[in-house]
Amino acid sequence: MKFQQFDRYTYVKEKHKTYLEELEAFVQTSSYLPAYHLYPKSGLMNDPNGLAYFNHTYYFFYQWFPFEPTHGMKHWGLSTSKNLVDWQDEGLALIPNQEYEKNGCYSGGSIEKDGFLYLFYTANYKTPNGKIPKQALAIMGKDGKIQKSTKNPIIDSTPEGMSGEIRDPFIFEREGHYFMLLGAKDQNNVGQLLLYKSSNLMDWNYQGVIELPVNKGYMVECPALIEVDGKDVLLFSPMGLEKEERRYQNQFATTYLVGELDLNNKVFHLEHSDEVDSGFDFYAPQVFYGKDRVPMMVAWFGCGEQKLPSDKDMWKHGLTIPYTLALKNNRLTHFVVPELAAQFKQKQSFDAETIQSTSNAFHIQFTLENEGAERTIRFGSPDDYWELLIDFGQNLMAVDRSHLALPVDIENGEIRKTNGLNKDKYQVDIFVDNSFVEIFLDQGEKSFAFRTFNMATDKICIQFDSKVSGVMANYDIRNK
Ligand code: FRU
Repeated sequence: MKFQQFDRYTYVKEKHKTYLEELEAFVQTSSYLPAYHLYPKSGLMNDPNGLAYFNHTYYFFYQWFPFEPTHGMKHWGLSTSKNLVDWQDEGLALIPNQEYEKNGCYSGGSIEKDGFLYLFYTANYKTPNGKIPKQALAIMGKDGKIQKSTKNPIIDSTPEGMSGEIRDPFIFEREGHYFMLLGAKDQNNVGQLLLYKSSNLMDWNYQGVIELPVNKGYMVECPALIEVDGKDVLLFSPMGLEKEERRYQNQFATTYLVGELDLNNKVFHLEHSDEVDSGFDFYAPQVFYGKDRVPMMVAWFGCGEQKLPSDKDMWKHGLTIPYTLALKNNRLTHFVVPELAAQFKQKQSFDAETIQSTSNAFHIQFTLENEGAERTIRFGSPDDYWELLIDFGQNLMAVDRSHLALPVDIENGEIRKTNGLNKDKYQVDIFVDNSFVEIFLDQGEKSFAFRTFNMATDKICIQFDSKVSGVMANYDIRNK
């Protein structure tokens, strides 16, 4: 197919319809497509936005540039589901076609009020002298129709001491008031978390900066708040954190804080904080309450600006599996929602040193014990594999992509490390979905989300360093 060139700030119009349909058909020929992760029909997908369980349906909006696999003009796309397994692609949800959002509909959150879903987003607005921060609102009814507010932008000013970089509204309700968190960079190039308050979701008053006793880098992106097991969990994605030997090794990282958010004093009383995930491709997670108010999380399956082997296929990135959240010893854990975990059928037990996959979408579960040496598991073939390493003696866990035949974003390093949990035994769950891999240790006490582009995706050889027993099951692709 012949690809067209687009100006970076092109938004989708009627005249692009045929070209985008051709592009979608071309993307379907890619050999790296997942079976149970959401990915863009064409172009680039990044942050999950406005996640909600509304009107008995899951609404997953996301950042989307449909024309090319690069960070261009951001629209909101939408997928919906009744059960977190079967997804309906709803196409474009927000098109940046107004003057106040002339450089894109950036990330934001949602909240339900009186039978409507209020979608808040950043109206990206650039000038030759920098950005002017603007926040906007769109309202969706139960019929799925979305209308931008005539009052947009609903916030259109820069609080004292802040730069023009202010974005990613996250909305929640407490004690009869609505609150908005916004990520920001201040005039001293330090990341900040801003608080606004409203009684009607339309008129917002600036309350000030929330004090966070952790490193916030030079910019805070995508703040999000949720209650898990009776505690407040605050997540945000700080840009510019220094890489540590066993933490924050991606270009950009994601941090969580467990404790109490004291809104009156604008301070977070911290009990514990850490990186959310240790893989190469995890950023900008959003949290929300699912069916029966279960706390959930979804992240962008990507990070920063990467070069991926699938770029030539005109699509890039995706979203993580939906996770349920829990606290364990005051640490935030996340694990695959049970609805999705139940879709892996024909469970086969094994007790072997080597196993061969029979599909490119599978789940494998086993226990790794401390046998006195470093434990390794290789996925792929002898000259094309990635590796999970657990060094019990050094209390170290790592994923190493340096032995893959097709290099993946090597500019940002080929290994990711994290501290273990000082145990002598770990339950390991690995969900492979073609080029998307998620590893969970002890049901999400540690995790690695990352992409891999093995040459033979449906013939993965899993090579343990000694005999291991476990179970393996293929994803049931009933709708394909
Ligand atoms: C995070 C982010 C957000 C912004 C969006 C733009 O990945 O940079 O801060 O709103 O992506 O797509």
